[in-house]
Amino acid sequence: MIFKLFLLLLLAPAAVHCLDTVFNDDVLGLIVFKAGLQDPLGKLISWNEEDDTPCNWFGIKCNPKTNRVSEIVLDGFSLSGHIDRGLLRLQFLQILSLANNNFTGSINSALAHLTSLQVLDLSDNSLSGSIPEQLFLQCGSIRVISFARNNLTGQIPQSLASCFSLEILNFSSNHLSGKLPSGLWYLRGIQSLDFSNNLLEGQIPSGIQSLYDLRLVNLQKNRFSGRVPEDIGGCLFLKSIDFSDNILSGGLPESMQMLSSCSYLNLRGNSLMGEVPRWVGELKNLEILDLSANNFSGQVPSSIGNLQLLKKFNVSMNNFTGNLPESMADCKNLLSIDASHNHLNGYLPSNVGELRNLLLLNLSRNHLVGSVPGSIGELKSVYVLDFSDNQLNGSVPVEIGGAVSLKELWLEKNLLTGEIPISIVKCSLLTSLMVSHNNLTGTIPAALANLSNLQNVDLSFNKLTGSLPKELTNLSHLLSFNISHNHLNGELPAGGFFNTISPFSISHNPSLCGAVVNRSCPSVHPKPIVLNPNSSDTNANSPSHKHHHEIILSISSIIAIGAASFILLGVVAVSILNIRARSSQARSAALALSAGEDFNCSPKTNPDYGKLVMFSGDAEFVFGAQALLNKDCELGRGGFGVVYRTALRDGCLVAIKKLTVTSLIKSQEDFESEVKKLGQIRHHNLVALEGYYWTTSLQLLIYEHVQNGSLYKHLHDRTSDDCLSWQQRFKIVLGMAKGLAYLHQNDIIHYNLKSTNVLIDSSGTPKVGDYGLARLLPMLDRCILSSKIQSALGYMAPEFACKTVTITEKCDVYGFGILVLEVVTGKRPVEYMEDDVIVLCDMVRAALDDGTVEQCVDERLRSNFRVEEAVPVMKLGLICASQVPSNRPDMNEVVNILEMIQSPCEAEEGLE
Ligand SMILES: *[C@@H]1O[C@H](CO)[C@@H](O)[C@H](O)[C@H]1NC(C)=O
Ligand SMILES: *[C@@H]1O[C@H](CO)[C@@H](O)[C@H](O)[C@H]1NC(C)=O
Ligand SMILES: *[C@@H]1O[C@H](CO)[C@@H](O)[C@H](O)[C@H]1NC(C)=O
Ligand SMILES: *[C@@H]1O[C@H](CO)[C@@H](O)[C@H](O)[C@H]1NC(C)=O
Ligand SMILES: *[C@@H]1O[C@H](CO)[C@@H](O)[C@H](O)[C@H]1NC(C)=O
Ligand SMILES: *[C@@H]1O[C@H](CO)[C@@H](O)[C@H](O)[C@H]1NC(C)=O
Ligand SMILES: *[C@@H]1O[C@H](CO)[C@@H](O)[C@H](O)[C@H]1NC(C)=O
Ligand SMILES: *[C@@H]1O[C@H](CO)[C@@H](O)[C@H](O)[C@H]1NC(C)=O
Repeated sequence: MIFKLFLLLLLAPAAVHCLDTVFNDDVLGLIVFKAGLQDPLGKLISWNEEDDTPCNWFGIKCNPKTNRVSEIVLDGFSLSGHIDRGLLRLQFLQILSLANNNFTGSINSALAHLTSLQVLDLSDNSLSGSIPEQLFLQCGSIRVISFARNNLTGQIPQSLASCFSLEILNFSSNHLSGKLPSGLWYLRGIQSLDFSNNLLEGQIPSGIQSLYDLRLVNLQKNRFSGRVPEDIGGCLFLKSIDFSDNILSGGLPESMQMLSSCSYLNLRGNSLMGEVPRWVGELKNLEILDLSANNFSGQVPSSIGNLQLLKKFNVSMNNFTGNLPESMADCKNLLSIDASHNHLNGYLPSNVGELRNLLLLNLSRNHLVGSVPGSIGELKSVYVLDFSDNQLNGSVPVEIGGAVSLKELWLEKNLLTGEIPISIVKCSLLTSLMVSHNNLTGTIPAALANLSNLQNVDLSFNKLTGSLPKELTNLSHLLSFNISHNHLNGELPAGGFFNTISPFSISHNPSLCGAVVNRSCPSVHPKPIVLNPNSSDTNANSPSHKHHHEIILSISSIIAIGAASFILLGVVAVSILNIRARSSQARSAALALSAGEDFNCSPKTNPDYGKLVMFSGDAEFVFGAQALLNKDCELGRGGFGVVYRTALRDGCLVAIKKLTVTSLIKSQEDFESEVKKLGQIRHHNLVALEGYYWTTSLQLLIYEHVQNGSLYKHLHDRTSDDCLSWQQRFKIVLGMAKGLAYLHQNDIIHYNLKSTNVLIDSSGTPKVGDYGLARLLPMLDRCILSSKIQSALGYMAPEFACKTVTITEKCDVYGFGILVLEVVTGKRPVEYMEDDVIVLCDMVRAALDDGTVEQCVDERLRSNFRVEEAVPVMKLGLICASQVPSNRPDMNEVVNILEMIQSPCEAEEGLE
């Protein structure tokens, strides 16, 4: 009721006058002010127009002597509406603070009538429009003005210059434009000037040194141009200078060296240039120095070391060169150093570990050389280390484990080598491990799985080998895990993050398998032998897999043996070989090694230990593990296993055969005695066995590496133009015969003769390989296995039909006979034509009967062959391939016959 009366009165100012005596002016003014507001939180509920005095109202304070309102403080009341003329009645108001509300509209110039006002805080509202010029015409008593964080536009009024009592001025975060009023520097008492985050432009007027009391100046985020005021050093008490994010140019003014009180200097994001002067060391109170994103050049001066209080040092994104000065280690309070994105080209300071409080060190995107100093392990508090994109070499120091607070380790794009140190597992807070684009080798440590906070892991573009530890699936916070472009193998772990891993994160690892890479893995557990008469041997290098020849195919039925686990074991074992083979001694070295996935350091407690024996001399596999992982190093696959090429430490290449019939292998003693016997076989025409590696689950045979590929390749690889000459062919036939004869003298049956098992060295000498392996198998299985081993179509002696007939050297003679025909005719033992199967020996035999045997000679020779040699050699081949074993000559006889066939001139050539 009375409220309505007020409103009536308001509409009739004359009437108000009449009521002056009835109502206190202050009550009236405040009630009118309240009437224009929304007060959703009911903060002003105590403002009751029936009260005689407003002095007890919420947010109101009165002068106790006069009982007139001196303070209105309504900060954060969620009020909205306009700042009303009603307030003008409060003639004795000293503090008006309406900060952090929702006031809208423009600033009422009538506020200028509040001549007692000392503090006017309208910050954090939604006031718009420009600041009225009249506002400051009588502002002699005002000490604090803040219009920060509104939506004010237009220029800063010149009248501001008349507020000679002003101490704090805050116009930050508006849309004010134009230049700074030149009268600003008349405000002699001012201590804090904040114009940050506006659209102010032009030069900063000179004369700032007259602001003798200035403690803080913030011009951040405007468009000020020109130079940093030359006379700024005159403001001796300046503690905080922020000119960041403008377009200031030129260098640092000399006078700045007088600012010894300054603790905060931020010049980030300008176009400042030149060298940072030595006198920067005079700014003894500096705690934060940010010169980032400018155009500074030269060296970071060593006087920086004098800044004992420095906490934050940011010179990133400039053109600094050289080193960070060693003296920086004296800045014991440093919490963060960011010198990233410069042209630093020296070493990483070795004493960086002395900065015990350091939390962040970012030196990325420079040209730093040398290695990562081990002293980083002393940075117990550091949580970000970024050395990425430099030219650092050496390895990731094992001392990294000392940085126990580390969360982010960025080392990508350097020249780092060596392995990921296991010690990293001590950095238990690690969330990001970024080491891509280096030359890291070795395996991914399973211990990584203990870093349960890991989110982002990038190991891509390195030379990591081995398989992915299954335990990695325990990493429940993973967001990314990039291992692309490495030499990893084996099965991608299934479960957790790895079920949804992006194919890009794992690409370019030639031997990685699993659903995501679209390559199925061999089953993990060795399967029992399966005799399957209906399928052909998939492993053997048989010329074709077609199922034509019923009898032969039934003999060459397959034995399926799971092989996947061996690959895994092979990787581990060979990496261990790699590490340990160094210690192998002159003639023979026997090492106890674990072959299991879990490398057990005490082999005595682990029955599954392995043993490396080299028959001659010292050996170390340079690319050991890699060889078994890298398809490029695969030389071939045969009935007994896969053959890889790798290098010994002395640079000699060797071929490593990984036996895939492992589960059938004899006991260790039998295996070793057989292999040692094979190791003693040394002949010009035999591939030498150099050593072996044994565990119950993995056996490797280490062979001499023969340069020029297999006889099969030379005869049947039509992609190469060069064709063996007749002389070369004869040399091969004779050499094979001598090699086999030597084997038989030593009671070794080859069992596995075929053109893929005869290698040709660089001088064209044939070397028979893969001999004697059947002896490694228990007798019982020999018969079954012979079908696997001897499965190469066409080379198999008929007695292999596997009844009660004992297998003798004569089986080899049969295979040799077929090889002879193959060499002379250039045809495979069995060739499949469109509708026909041509069995080589039948064909030659028929041609011999027809008197056209000359036409069987490889047509690529045209007529460049000796008929007087070729025809007898073919006849010899046919005799060797007789159906009845006793009709076949023995290999000594074969050698003699061949030497008789050989024409004298060729024999001399052969002696060369
Ligand atoms: C201002 O008003 C808006 C709605 O108009 C509201 O969402 C916001 O919280 C208010 N702000 C304050 C500081 O009260
Ligand atoms: C200016 O006001 C804004 C908003 O209230 C505040 O964040 C800032 O610290 C003030 N500036 C100074 C120098 O006090
Ligand atoms: C501030 O003013 C601009 C125009 O100058 C307007 O677009 C914007 O919506 C205003 N913001 C607020 C919060 O009032
Ligand atoms: C830095 O300085 C060079 C010449 O000294 C100039 O070409 C370049 O534009 C400057 N860059 C910036 C961001 O000011
Ligand atoms: C250093 O400055 C750059 C550029 O201004 C900025 O991006 C970076 O975050 C700063 N570094 C630190 C550690 O604050
Ligand atoms: C960086 O400094 C070098 C000389 O120290 C100069 O040649 C080069 O132009 C500078 N680069 C920029 C972007 O200023
Ligand atoms: C280090 O600095 C570079 C370049 O200034 C920046 O891109 C990177 O994000 C920083 N590293 C970290 C971990 O903050
Ligand atoms: C890795 O090493 C090879 C040769 O050893 C070299 O060509 C290559 O540049 C190196 N890559 C990196 C990223 O260091």
